[in-house]
Amino acid sequence: MKKFTSVQDIGDLKAAVKEALEVKKHRFDYQYLGKNKTLLMIFFNSSLRTRLSTQKAAMNLGMNVMVLDVKQGAWNLETERGVVMNGDKAEHLLEAIPVMGSYADIIGVRSFAKYESKEDDYSEKILNQFIKYSGKPVFSMEAATCHPLQAFADLITIEEYKKTPHPKVVMTWAPHCRALPQAVPNSFAEWMNATDYEFVIAHPHGYELDSKFTGHARIEYDQDKALEGADFVYAKNWAAYTDPNYGKILSSDPTWTVSTEKMALTNNAYFMHCLPVRRNLIVTDDVIESPQSIVIPEAANREISAEVVLKRFLESLQ
Ligand code: CP
Repeated sequence: MKKFTSVQDIGDLKAAVKEALEVKKHRFDYQYLGKNKTLLMIFFNSSLRTRLSTQKAAMNLGMNVMVLDVKQGAWNLETERGVVMNGDKAEHLLEAIPVMGSYADIIGVRSFAKYESKEDDYSEKILNQFIKYSGKPVFSMEAATCHPLQAFADLITIEEYKKTPHPKVVMTWAPHCRALPQAVPNSFAEWMNATDYEFVIAHPHGYELDSKFTGHARIEYDQDKALEGADFVYAKNWAAYTDPNYGKILSSDPTWTVSTEKMALTNNAYFMHCLPVRRNLIVTDDVIESPQSIVIPEAANREISAEVVLKRFLESLQ
């Protein structure tokens, strides 16, 4: 594997889940792969889970790990070509990337959508420059349009908890006070579409996602109808994708918050969220604290999805 930015890069999903469950049982058995290999994790945006789980996965594999927070202690980086650099940005990404590549064997990048330009966000301008200029395998730790490590962990979690071979999985929009990226819902949709589950997406009018990711999923504008008989409820907020509202908040309708009443419509569904979550906007205290909430094992599986991806990179470097 040379890069990991979308579901296509992982290949056969059943094989990937099987490998993940094996890695989960024997997570320290592959230390020989990471000996004298260095992971560099570059964060343009904040993180708790991705930072810790990916570092833990790399340590499980015997790797050395370096972490760079671009906004804390590094030179402020220019990302555009042609700019006269007489402002506050002391270094250009086009020098910084190959320099970073010279110190690392594998590079992880977190770089969110800026919601300044849909074209820039959806062309994955920053991530693709790392792929092009670092000379090293690169993986997304949540980029502008996708969060594949999260979606892989979500899939592993559903496989562990499902009670039927083809569960009904509902991803529902829920209200939030800030304009959040579409990376998590895009990736979740992309990965669910690659399974044989029944997959439904519920959101208010105006919150349609890029059809490149939603594919053949059933779209419902009536959340109650979508939730009927669900085995898994995956809540997430995202800002509008479609023009002219790209990056905007169009609704804060509290009736879309996932509550005990909403969960009562389901087939005793498990509740999932990628975290961090704002309680009583996205989900009520009662639901997230209920026995059906699997947000903690879901987050724990981030270590496993990261370990499988790093293991595959290391195997291709041997
Ligand atoms: N779910 C997730 O990626 O969490 P962090 O933003 O804390 O890394």
